[in-house]
Amino acid sequence: MMHIQEFVSLKPYNTFGIEAKARFFCAVESLADLDGALQWAKRQGLAVRVLGGGSNILLSGDVDGLVVLMQNRGIRITEDDGNHATVEVAAGENWHQLVLWSVEHGLGGLENLGLIPGTAGAAPVQNIGAYGVEFAEVCHSVTAVRRDTLERVTFGAADCCFGYRDSLFKHEPNCWVVESIRVSLCRMSPVRTHYGSVGDMLCEMGVDEPDYRDVCEAVCRVRRDKLPDPAELGNAGSFFKNPLVSADKAQELAQRYPGLPTYPQKTGDCKLAAGWLIDKTGWKGKNLGRAGVYPKQALVLVNNGGASGQEILALAESICRDVQEKFGIALEKEPVVFP
Ligand code: EPU
Repeated sequence: MMHIQEFVSLKPYNTFGIEAKARFFCAVESLADLDGALQWAKRQGLAVRVLGGGSNILLSGDVDGLVVLMQNRGIRITEDDGNHATVEVAAGENWHQLVLWSVEHGLGGLENLGLIPGTAGAAPVQNIGAYGVEFAEVCHSVTAVRRDTLERVTFGAADCCFGYRDSLFKHEPNCWVVESIRVSLCRMSPVRTHYGSVGDMLCEMGVDEPDYRDVCEAVCRVRRDKLPDPAELGNAGSFFKNPLVSADKAQELAQRYPGLPTYPQKTGDCKLAAGWLIDKTGWKGKNLGRAGVYPKQALVLVNNGGASGQEILALAESICRDVQEKFGIALEKEPVVFP
């Protein structure tokens, strides 16, 4: 049953652990609830904000309108030829639980994406990625509801316009609500261990011929070593995207700053490690008010306890200013800031 609540604290629903209130709030467990909530908001003339795991948002203040929390559940294999399988997943499923489910079923494709916080429905929105794999590579299709008309559209992977931490759904944030995804998994696909720290971790684990479960375990160990657990220290993963610069600019910087990690792209441009740039400005491990830069990974901003969204933003702005001054590069935020 759809139940609209008022003045609800969003602190439990954002991994930064920021206190902010939703004027109206509705946890939806079914598509009928979702339709009901969207219709209700339309009748009231209210804006709708959709939350999954709240792991890629920064709340800069209280939220007017209706916050919808996606909690629909379900994972099922819809096609299976003994090697390739298509798995349909409701948007409200926890992403990491889905990854564990896939490796337990001997299905490959998601193992490098273990321990990413958030829900399955959020995965396509920012095209989550880690350790050499992006959601786009396993995406079969995404079904979303148009907020204004309640029309349901299934987008094939190519129609989702995936880019680095980017998609159609991110570009049109007030248009769609993702209700389910389908991923293409495979029992015989090779494991991907080329991302340095994953290969090193597998060696440390003493595994020579890793299966999907081993790779998932290695990825989880690397993440636990380097990234803070949001249950213990509020954060939203990488706070900035790795910037894309021209090959000329990358070369010029690499000459000036030996050791600068550069990742040449197919387009001819070059991606740089934002964490490294921030590290070199001296911000790593430093605090500004109750907001801080995680000591083990400069790309992650943390809430040291009681920080407001504004405090996190103030820290982010100081970092951006210093990176711009030192390297001439404009960093772009990764989480969505709202309201
Ligand atoms: N580095 C530093 N200092 C730091 C952090 C990083 O010198 O404080 C250097 C590292 O030594 C390395 C390079 O920067 O040479 C890249 O670092 P890392 O391998 O940790 O990856 P990243 O580029 O910082 C990206 C994703 C992460 C993902 C990892 C692993 C983005 C914005 N971030 O981080 O994604 O887990 O690669 O694939 O693309 C997220 O999006 O929330 C996220 C955690």
